[in-house]
Amino acid sequence: MKALVLDSKHPQGVSFQEITLPPLEDHEVRIKVEAAALNHRDEWCRQGNYANLKDGVVLGSDGSGVVTDVGKGVDHSWIGKQIIINPALHWGDEQQAQGLNFRILGMPDHGTFAEFVQVPADRVHSKPDHLSLAEAAALPLAGLTAYRALFYRGGLKQGQNVLVTGIGGGVAQFALQFALAQKANVYVSSSSLKKIDFAKSLGAAGGFIYSDPNWIQEAEKQSGGFDLIIDSAMGDTLSELIDVVRPGGTIVFFGATLGNPAAINVRKIFWKQINLSGTTMGSDRDFEDMVDFVTHHGIKPIVDSVVVFSDTVKAFERMKSGEQMGKLVISLGS
Ligand SMILES: NC(=O)c1ccc[n+]([C@@H]2O[C@H](COP(=O)([O-])OP(=O)(O)OC[C@H]3O[C@@H](n4cnc5c(N)ncnc54)[C@H](OP(=O)(O)O)[C@@H]3O)[C@@H](O)[C@H]2O)c1
Repeated sequence: MKALVLDSKHPQGVSFQEITLPPLEDHEVRIKVEAAALNHRDEWCRQGNYANLKDGVVLGSDGSGVVTDVGKGVDHSWIGKQIIINPALHWGDEQQAQGLNFRILGMPDHGTFAEFVQVPADRVHSKPDHLSLAEAAALPLAGLTAYRALFYRGGLKQGQNVLVTGIGGGVAQFALQFALAQKANVYVSSSSLKKIDFAKSLGAAGGFIYSDPNWIQEAEKQSGGFDLIIDSAMGDTLSELIDVVRPGGTIVFFGATLGNPAAINVRKIFWKQINLSGTTMGSDRDFEDMVDFVTHHGIKPIVDSVVVFSDTVKAFERMKSGEQMGKLVISLGS
């Protein structure tokens, strides 16, 4: 089958190759991938900026498709069903954190940027009826991360003031949509006025350009401070977030696009009684709750663009440039 694999020797960092998947194990299902979607993780892998990379592995954590085969131990009624894949493999039994065997589909296990993918049967969930296959492919990794960040780690309550930073990001947009559905007052930050305006058109109460040196004062003035901040940039922006979170408030972060902060004013953290909370993807319970929430509220992922499989590298380049507003989807359907 045709697959897009990590290829560190190729100038683009990835290449299309013909590969053969191993025989299906008893607990697995084989899926014909109809659509896949990019996450920043795929781009970090392509750039060689991720742990334990292995050339020849099919990238891609997100996908939707149709089950074509099942292993001996799997219910045959899955065959022919349209599904989405939970890319969090082997989370374990604890809700509070993943176990040692936790992995993410798409490195080191073959992922969804291929005509077929094989996963344990307990990773497949029926596609929500209100979503197309392309929309459904955009949901799993980013939706799961945003859901856990807001509700389990962030304890979001109706009416709270929330700031979602970098609203161009895939996870950030789900955080915006989910927090709005929970009737929070949601503000955003971005490098782009156009993205802020788009967020406002969805219901955001306001937005700030994070490169503007006065954005903290403006945010303070407009919102009165935030009960909850969802961030993946980190770096030295953490100091700004500590300034703009309310006393007793929470900062949940799931990435470090800007790296580690050079310095943190820890006194402000304890004096303001701030909760600094890390999160990564989510448990099986989080995934089920997220899909129920999305279905109940009729939430549709924001899709920036859909490209055909052979143009996947164009989608990577768009993500690298940060131009996208919404998920970058790859169509493999016939
Ligand atoms: N731990 C986990 O489970 C997990 C899960 C998903 C993602 N992540 C990590 O989280 C990060 C975002 O992932 P993604 O897939 O959502 O990426 P993405 O869709 O590529 O979005 C990245 C966004 O980061 C924003 N950004 C850049 N510089 C910023 C700054 N100084 N302040 C605030 N925002 C800034 C930009 O927003 P604007 O375009 O609005 O400027 C950009 O669109 C990545 O580092 C990724 O590896 C971690």
